[in-house]
Amino acid sequence: MQRRVVICFRLNCAHCHADDARGDEGPDLHDLHRSDARIHEVITAGIKGEMPSFGKKLGDPDVRRLIAYLRTLHRLNRSRRFVQNLLQKTACAAAVQCSSHTHS
Ligand code: HEC
Repeated sequence: MQRRVVICFRLNCAHCHADDARGDEGPDLHDLHRSDARIHEVITAGIKGEMPSFGKKLGDPDVRRLIAYLRTLHRLNRSRRFVQNLLQKTACAAAVQCSSHTHS
């Protein structure tokens, strides 16, 4: 099911929002601070002059799956940031350790 929704996203959304939803012509879709209902509305009704409506093309279950998919991106994004922070901190700690061992 996950693969299906990824394909659905790539076919319908990726040419504007990029394959990884990082944004291209359309905005980055990670960290969406909108309710499911609002996102549902945006996808089915579109945004005049900006984004086509998918209400006729995608059924309600597909739209719901897309929203769930965008939510997983959000979570992935957060854990990625967490790991990056952690790496940065450990790299920093390692650098401090290294410099304290040099005798210059
Ligand atoms: C033709 C280009 C295009 C396509 C195709 C497209 N979008 Fe968009 N989308 C946009 C643009 C441009 C905006 C921003 C409009 C604005 O800010 O007024 C947007 C906005 C959005 C938003 C609202 C973001 C926010 O912060 O409010 C969501 C959610 C969204 N798109 C999801 C999708 C999904 C899911 C698909 C595929 C089913 C899709 N879009 C397909 C161009 C596109």
